[in-house]
Amino acid sequence: MKAHVITDAVFCLHADIETTDLFEGIWPIPSGVSLNSYVVRGEKIALIDLIRDWINAPRQIEDALNSIGIDFEAVDYLILNHMEPDHTGWLREFREKNTKAEIITTAKGLNLIKSFYKTPETGLRAVKDGDTLDLGKGNVLTFYETPNLHWPETMITWDNASGTLFTCDAFGSFGKLGERVFDDEFNKEEHVFFEEESLRYYANIVSSFSVFVERAVKKLESLDIRCVAPSHGIVWRKDPQTIISRYLRYATYAKGPAEQEIALIWGSMYGYTRRGLDAVIRGIEREGVPYTLHRIPDENISYVLSAAYKSAGLVLAMPTYEYAMFPPMAYVLDIFHRKHITGKTVLRIGSWGWVGGAKKDYEAAIEGLKWNHLESLEWAGAPGEAEQIALEARGQELARAVKRN
Ligand code: FEO
Repeated sequence: MKAHVITDAVFCLHADIETTDLFEGIWPIPSGVSLNSYVVRGEKIALIDLIRDWINAPRQIEDALNSIGIDFEAVDYLILNHMEPDHTGWLREFREKNTKAEIITTAKGLNLIKSFYKTPETGLRAVKDGDTLDLGKGNVLTFYETPNLHWPETMITWDNASGTLFTCDAFGSFGKLGERVFDDEFNKEEHVFFEEESLRYYANIVSSFSVFVERAVKKLESLDIRCVAPSHGIVWRKDPQTIISRYLRYATYAKGPAEQEIALIWGSMYGYTRRGLDAVIRGIEREGVPYTLHRIPDENISYVLSAAYKSAGLVLAMPTYEYAMFPPMAYVLDIFHRKHITGKTVLRIGSWGWVGGAKKDYEAAIEGLKWNHLESLEWAGAPGEAEQIALEARGQELARAVKRN
């Protein structure tokens, strides 16, 4: 990999990760992910954000550094905007190669360095909001604390000379980059792919912290941002506002209103709940509202979460299982709770065999999510004609409510 030139003093280095490993040990990345680091070169050299030793990432970054005539030993400052190990896991190895570089992060970040990496407590500097670092030749970096974006210690680094904002996880996405990194180098189809992957990344990683996304954007709004440089995904030099606006839109989904779409999340043991769901779909289609279907547990929660997060309406279709909720739905609702999937308009339906029982379990699981509920509909065994008519009407009612969103 070669370094990518942002200006004659600022460079992007990236490692493409292709793996069957799960990101954070939870989220699948079938199209990979990039780990981006950056160099700002004045009289001194700053390396911004690191990598973990994952699918040859250190070698990829080293090759990119070498392509601009730098090696790890030449780095004067290592700036760590965020301490999650995808950006810091290689810290001990970096330290073995470079014993002189000052490692710069927030005070909370220093605590995490000590707890994760047990490094000697030398060569570490804590910075706070508004502190600067003069690299010489007109390159002055400014640090802005952006707590809970998405960890408590996070900060964003600003290079005034180039107008580049180094944001680490914020404004990032899943998806490897290949030979290109800049927004103007990808075609429309590729941008559609990265938009889907940025939504999934946001829903999976950032959604619980949406209020802090809004707070950070507000804090930085006076800067003349000419390039947004995240540590995952595309570098936005042509139209940085695209990704900033996109993230602000995603942040609003956390409190509603979301998109006028319906995510139908369903599980069925022998097809009777699915038969009822088909009637609901007929009602939705009559209103022309777009919908997506997500069978659980077949579909990975990462994708279910992404669809639910952006949709104003949800249908949760599940059978009663041993007097309680269908277990895969219980897992989905637990994740929804953790990721703050709030403010939705929701219809719950399902079939039961001997006796119902999902209701009580369900109501306990969704407490606090501030959902607007349509009246639930359950039936014994297969849905009869009267039930199918009622289910179709309920689907239409939901679609109309979503259109009013
Ligand atoms: Fe990319 Fe929160 O680490």
